[in-house]
Amino acid sequence: MFPVERKNRRIMIISFLAASLVLYLCPLLLQQPFAAAQLRRGFYSGVCPEAQHVVRETVRRAMARDPRSAASVMRLQFHDCFVNGCDASLLLDDTPSMLGEKLSLSNINSLRSYEVIDEAKEAVERACPGIVSCADIIIMAARDAVVLSGGPKWEVKLGRKDSLSASQEASDEIMPSPRANASSLVHLFERFNLSITDLVALSGSHSIGMGRCFSIVFRLYNQSGTGRPDPHMDPRYRFKLDQLCPVNGDGNVTGGLDATPTKFDNQYFKDLVRRRGFLNSDQTLYSGDGRTREVVKRFSVNQDAFFTAFVEGMVKLGDLQVQQPGEIRKNCREVNKQSERMDRMRTRF
Ligand code: HEM
Ligand SMILES: *[C@@H]1O[C@H](CO)[C@@H](O)[C@H](O)[C@H]1NC(C)=O
Ligand SMILES: *[C@@H]1O[C@H](CO)[C@@H](O)[C@H](O)[C@H]1NC(C)=O
Ligand SMILES: *[C@@H]1O[C@H](CO)[C@@H](O)[C@H](O)[C@H]1NC(C)=O
Ligand SMILES: *[C@@H]1O[C@H](CO)[C@@H](O)[C@H](O)[C@H]1NC(C)=O
Repeated sequence: MFPVERKNRRIMIISFLAASLVLYLCPLLLQQPFAAAQLRRGFYSGVCPEAQHVVRETVRRAMARDPRSAASVMRLQFHDCFVNGCDASLLLDDTPSMLGEKLSLSNINSLRSYEVIDEAKEAVERACPGIVSCADIIIMAARDAVVLSGGPKWEVKLGRKDSLSASQEASDEIMPSPRANASSLVHLFERFNLSITDLVALSGSHSIGMGRCFSIVFRLYNQSGTGRPDPHMDPRYRFKLDQLCPVNGDGNVTGGLDATPTKFDNQYFKDLVRRRGFLNSDQTLYSGDGRTREVVKRFSVNQDAFFTAFVEGMVKLGDLQVQQPGEIRKNCREVNKQSERMDRMRTRF
């Protein structure tokens, strides 16, 4: 008699705990749909019609303070979307239990203008609190940066959720090096279903912005360990870069990624054809692979073809998503308190 009673009581307690857990988690789970949502144009037009205008004006103000911020903001979309999808994981600051992406190999001392996204988020939160994700703000701001730099206009798809975590390891593993050659870039982009045309068009984002000497000294003085410079460089351009970036100079000094670094145009491709690409990963698209070279040549003589392909590439890049829980963060730099509570629940049971 006695052992049976004890067993029944144990079953009752376990059922009670299980039921409480389900009841407790249900509302949380409903508030935390998966980050991989159906994206669509005009997603916020009913619930936050001001969002797009507010983001555009924030980017405009940032560019008035610092023209380079257009490029820096636009780059955030690439570095966010390639690492576990476009989920603003990039924006999370490190915590005692999580190494975020800001200090990964490609991002440390390089990504900038995080504060522009913060400013846009604060302004959007004032207009409609708790509605617009940081992930969508990156996508809108990247588009606005291109438009305000003289590039093409397009309507972005929205409806993303913000991640609950970030991964420095994933960023280190995925993001390409400035040393990359064309065939490795083709393969990398293939992993994301991005074609050779997408690769070349998206690299055309280097039509705006700056790169550091740190990213090019190897090709100026010791390409592939040869002790020689990259042979695929116009000697006069190389002479200029040698002066900008002497051996043992300051790695943080910057140079334009193309000859017109604040104007979004096809100058970047004209430069590649003339062997005046800044990064090895740029010049290789012309000098390192016949398939990418054809696309570079086409864009160098047809800016409209570049703009059309660029928009297509940015939309595909913005479509990258993974199945992970998400939320609308209050502050782009940290997950909401509520989800911290949920994480604690998960580890307790
Ligand atoms: C194809 C592979 C790519 C490689 C290897 C690459 C690499 C780099 C590197 C090394 C820099 C300079 C960083 C520094 O020296 O601190 C840079 C800058 C930049 N990248 Fe890329 N990138 C690639 C593709 C892209 C894509 C797809 C986009 C956007 C859609 C993008 C947007 C930018 C922008 C706008 C800058 C200038 C940022 C600034 O001035 O702050 N890049 N990239
Ligand atoms: C391109 O780079 C990859 C990875 O670094 C390397 O394995 C490959 O041999 C290179 N290809 C060419 C054609 O240089
Ligand atoms: C690429 O496309 C294939 C086939 O449509 C799909 O199964 C896969 O999930 C896609 N990969 C990415 C990273 O989107
Ligand atoms: C060039 O790179 C190779 C391989 O990384 C290295 O062994 C060599 O010492 C370097 N040469 C110079 C001059 O830095
Ligand atoms: C660039 O500046 C940062 C911060 O001031 C410093 O930590 C880093 O070592 C510098 N990087 C290079 C390549 O000189």
